[in-house]
Amino acid sequence: MSNKSPVELEQWRALEAHQQSVASTSLRELFANDANRFEKFQLNAAGIFLDFSKNHITQETHQKLIALAEASGVQAKFKAMFSGEIVNTTEKRPVLHTALRYQGSDPILVEGKDVMPGVREVLDRMRVFTQQVRDGSWTGFTGKPITDVVNIGIGGSDLGPLMAVEALAPFAHELLTIHFVSNVDGSHLVSTLKKVNPETTLFVVASKTFTTQETLTNAHSARDWFLQSAATDADVAKHFAALSTNADAVSTFGIDTNNMFGFWDWVGGRYSLWSAIGLPLALSIGMDRFEEFLSGAYEMDRHALEAPLAENMPVTLALLTVWYNNFWGAPSHLIAPYDQYLHRFPAYLQQLTMESNGKSVHHDGTVVNMATGPVVWGEPGTNGQHAYFQLVHQGTHLIPTDFIMAMQSLNPLGIHHELLMANCFAQSEALMMGKNADELHAEMKQSGASEDEIGELTGHRTFQGNRPSNTLLVQQLTPKALGSLIALYEQKVFVEAAIWDINAFDQWGVELGKALAKSIHGEIQEGLTVKSHDASTNGLINRTLKLNNTLA
Ligand code: F6P
Repeated sequence: MSNKSPVELEQWRALEAHQQSVASTSLRELFANDANRFEKFQLNAAGIFLDFSKNHITQETHQKLIALAEASGVQAKFKAMFSGEIVNTTEKRPVLHTALRYQGSDPILVEGKDVMPGVREVLDRMRVFTQQVRDGSWTGFTGKPITDVVNIGIGGSDLGPLMAVEALAPFAHELLTIHFVSNVDGSHLVSTLKKVNPETTLFVVASKTFTTQETLTNAHSARDWFLQSAATDADVAKHFAALSTNADAVSTFGIDTNNMFGFWDWVGGRYSLWSAIGLPLALSIGMDRFEEFLSGAYEMDRHALEAPLAENMPVTLALLTVWYNNFWGAPSHLIAPYDQYLHRFPAYLQQLTMESNGKSVHHDGTVVNMATGPVVWGEPGTNGQHAYFQLVHQGTHLIPTDFIMAMQSLNPLGIHHELLMANCFAQSEALMMGKNADELHAEMKQSGASEDEIGELTGHRTFQGNRPSNTLLVQQLTPKALGSLIALYEQKVFVEAAIWDINAFDQWGVELGKALAKSIHGEIQEGLTVKSHDASTNGLINRTLKLNNTLA
């Protein structure tokens, strides 16, 4: 492996030169020139089918991208992560979310100690607890079974479990509703508490560090609300559980550590869904299905680690992102799930990818001289078609898109799924094929338009096309399929970081805002005219304090 900046690698330079030649051939032409293109650019792994034929690549491009992955040491880096080496160098930690879903029998060592017995012990405790809540034997302070669970967390302690609970709603316990409160905006907690009864509500306070301002503020307010309902301090144990690595802070808060499900500092927040942070999901779908979810991820992990680079799905997706991000200047990446149950998947992927790869320095601290993580965004189709797709089709930006769909619906209803499928396939075809002036002319002529009308509208109604996409298909959105899908994106993000030579596992960029918020909060509480910031920030604070009549 070379220590050169990625852009100095000969494989990088070869791709730069190669891009010019590929760019002159349209996607339409690539398909017209090769009847087997669909067969050549597809992969199957862990229950996921990937069609990546609608991309600006030839077999030569693919080989050149694979050569870049080889030169970047992707396979060795995968091995280092899976085996517990310290790959999060700035926080001096191994990165072992893969151990949380590991199904083999080998030990996984951190500082010489096997972490697997601890992982299994927490899973066993989660099984006992979730069973008790689900079968009604865990009762609240008035002896009634739990009907509502409120997860209080933010970031990785919210987005993953929320997304997965929504995605697997068809498998949910019928009598248990799971709510999520994340925002420090009191409206989030207040509106949620209006829906639940203190006698039958279980609060799950989820925080890796147990120091996060938003989560602790919401947790304190939730406890106050609970205690106002005639419950006593002794009843808190029946209604509050904690998911954390910080037992001391959990006890200081007043949660019985018997109700604490632990994990470890080698689990990054945005990679923690597989740990105790997955408890709301396990409460919703039950522990057997939670374990199927883990096994889907494990299958994808094996594939990532063992499949040759050219047949490796996360490697392929990562290389395509690098290809468009760095060689085609595409600053964003659209995630378009054609599945209502995946409506929070883009939001979840935003944290996974943007907190991981939104970095400007290499591992050695030198500033990067190329683009790193693109902006990730999206909303489910078909809704997106009536909102943002106009820009994807006819706007000026190149926006590579991932279409994600289950081939079979879990809610078969008349023609609904046929229409969903038709729309999903139509969008990727339209993005690729576009509609040229001749085609438009023939179409408008056919519907009786005059030459003048056609002339006026030609620029507006033609579609350039040539816009790339991947399509990912699963059979059904089961716990196992969801596990594989999430792990696919986790490993993709890892490969991108390996190529860009950045640390995907720290997040120093969130610190400055947190520190400033703390000091501004102090000033707001003091209630004096604020002068310590720039004129804009002072002005905004003072104007707000004045309106609230809190200026002393
Ligand atoms: O502020 C960013 C962050 O540290 C995320 O990485 C993390 O997922 C989130 O805050 C919540 O952290 P915690 O689980 O420690 O409350």
